[in-house]
Amino acid sequence: MATFIVLLGPPGVGKGTQAKILAETTNLAHISSGDLFRENLKNQTELGKLAKSYMDKGELVPDDVTISMIRDRLSRADCETGAILDGFPRTPAQADALEKMLTGFKGKVDYVPFITAAKDILVERASGRWTCREQGHIYHQKFNPPQKVGICDIDGSELYQRDDDKVETVSKRIKVYLDQTMPLVEYYRQKGVLVEIDGSQPVDQVTENLLAALKK
Ligand code: AP5
Repeated sequence: MATFIVLLGPPGVGKGTQAKILAETTNLAHISSGDLFRENLKNQTELGKLAKSYMDKGELVPDDVTISMIRDRLSRADCETGAILDGFPRTPAQADALEKMLTGFKGKVDYVPFITAAKDILVERASGRWTCREQGHIYHQKFNPPQKVGICDIDGSELYQRDDDKVETVSKRIKVYLDQTMPLVEYYRQKGVLVEIDGSQPVDQVTENLLAALKK
């Protein structure tokens, strides 16, 4: 039976960082809705252009578009054994749609690590983030700097700062998260799959706590 893990938490808390580590540890596919939108933007698709108009304002891309993108991604062969979902679902409608999609895999959402940290930590992490243009590897100018400024250690590609990581856009994204995504905490708690993780710790410590919680 396939295993599906949903990483829930505010912008900048470290979902992408932990999802990449978990994907390597578990061999499950890593699906990041934000990365899929950014990939579409890089390829100048209609979906990418539409998504950018919402992302730049710190707002959510409409549910129907987002759900159909994830449905398509989940239908690929690398998701047959399951996946780590990072940034999806983000609204109750997306969570309901995911539940229906996973029945097609005879699966369900098995674990929902809910990673949290205070707002000042989120803003500092997002505004100091550098992302690799080729494959989305994540760095931070203070907490996880690359060996060479502006160059990805792993694939040598250029590092860039996301347009939506300006302090005012991050604050808007946090507000949108509180309004539209927080209801999912109760949704998954009711289902008995939510595990709370302190995201204010250093990366290694968060990973250790995450793996320990998943083993339980
Ligand atoms: P998305 O790309 O999903 O952004 P997000 O959820 O806001 O999350 P982030 O990528 O900002 O942060 P993260 O938690 O992954 O942190 P990271 O590991 O990078 O979404 C962007 C936009 O796309 C949305 O605003 C929306 O418009 C649209 N979108 C996406 N999904 C959607 C959906 N389902 N529905 C509708 N619209 C959607 O870490 C951040 C920084 O901190 C890095 O520099 C990292 O190195 C550092 N760091 C990480 N962990 C630690 C640690 N423990 N200690 C110190 N530094 C750390």
